[in-house]
Amino acid sequence: MLELKDISKTFKKKGTGLSVQAAKHVSLNIPEQSIVGLVGESGCGKSTLSRMVVGLEKADSGTIALKGKNIDYRNPRDLSHLRKSVQIVFQDPNTTFNPRRTLLASLEEGLVNKGMGKTDRLKKVRDLTDIIGISYANLEKYPHQFSGGQKQRLSIARALLMEPELLVLDEPVSSLDVSVQAQIINLLMDLRKEFGLTYLFISHDLHLVGYVSTLIAVMKSGEIVEQGDAEQILFEPKHSYTKQLFASSPIIH
Ligand SMILES: Nc1ncnc2c1ncn2[C@@H]1O[C@H](COP(=O)(O)OP(=O)(O)O)[C@@H](O)[C@H]1O
Ligand SMILES: [Mg+2]
Repeated sequence: MLELKDISKTFKKKGTGLSVQAAKHVSLNIPEQSIVGLVGESGCGKSTLSRMVVGLEKADSGTIALKGKNIDYRNPRDLSHLRKSVQIVFQDPNTTFNPRRTLLASLEEGLVNKGMGKTDRLKKVRDLTDIIGISYANLEKYPHQFSGGQKQRLSIARALLMEPELLVLDEPVSSLDVSVQAQIINLLMDLRKEFGLTYLFISHDLHLVGYVSTLIAVMKSGEIVEQGDAEQILFEPKHSYTKQLFASSPIIH
C-alpha cells in the first residue's frame, strides 16, 4: 500500500543553531490490509513520520510510494491522490474539531469540498455515525458537549468519510481514559474488517502495539532499530531497546 524508502528529516531549532534529526534513513513497508505498529518513546520521531506519510510535512530526502507510484510532493495531483487515499487520526481529539461549528458541519466539510450534494452527504454521515456508535441527532451539538472518547469516535468517522484505504492512527487512545481505550481499539479493529482498511498504528506502548499489529517497527531517535512480524518482535525481540520498551509498558488486560 505504502512504502517509505530512506526517509530523512532534520529540524533546525530556532535561534539555537542546533538541529534534531527526527528521521534518519527510515525505510518502512506497509502492505495492503496489514496493521503496521510503529512504536518508540516520546520524541523519537513517530509523529514527524506520520505527518510525512499524509503529506503534511515534506521529507528532506528519500521517497514515499503509494501503491507502487512515487509521490512527488511538489505535484498537486500527487498530493491530492495521497490525501484521498490516506487519512490521519491525531492523538488529541480536542484539537480535531472547530469549537464553533456543530459536529455535523465539521463532518460534512470534506464531502462539501468534494462537491457531494446535501442529500448524499447527510446519508453518508448518518450511515457512518451509526457504525461508530454516535446518534445522528447529537451531531447538532458542539465539540465541548462530547466526551473525549466520543470525540475520538467522531475523529475516526471524519477520516473514514473520505473513504481512505490507509488510516494513520497517531497515538489514537493515548489521551483517553483507560476505561475508554479498549472500546476505541475494538471499534478500530471492527472498522478495519468492515472497510478492508490498512492501518499505520502509532503508539509509545509496545504492549498495545503488540495487541493490534501484524507487523511492528521499533523507532529510537529517528531510526527504525528493528522491524518484523509482530510475533517475532513480541516473543524474540533482538534489539536491546525493544526489550527495554517492554519493561516500560504496562500490560493490558
Ligand atoms: N516542527 C518542528 N520544529 C522543530 N522540531 C520539531 C518539529 N516537529 C518535531 N520536532 C522535533 O522532532 C523530534 C521528534 O518529534 P515527534 O515526531 O513529535 O516525536 P514523537 O511523535 O515520537 O513524540 C523531537 O525532538 C521534536 O522536538
Ligand atoms: Mg507524537
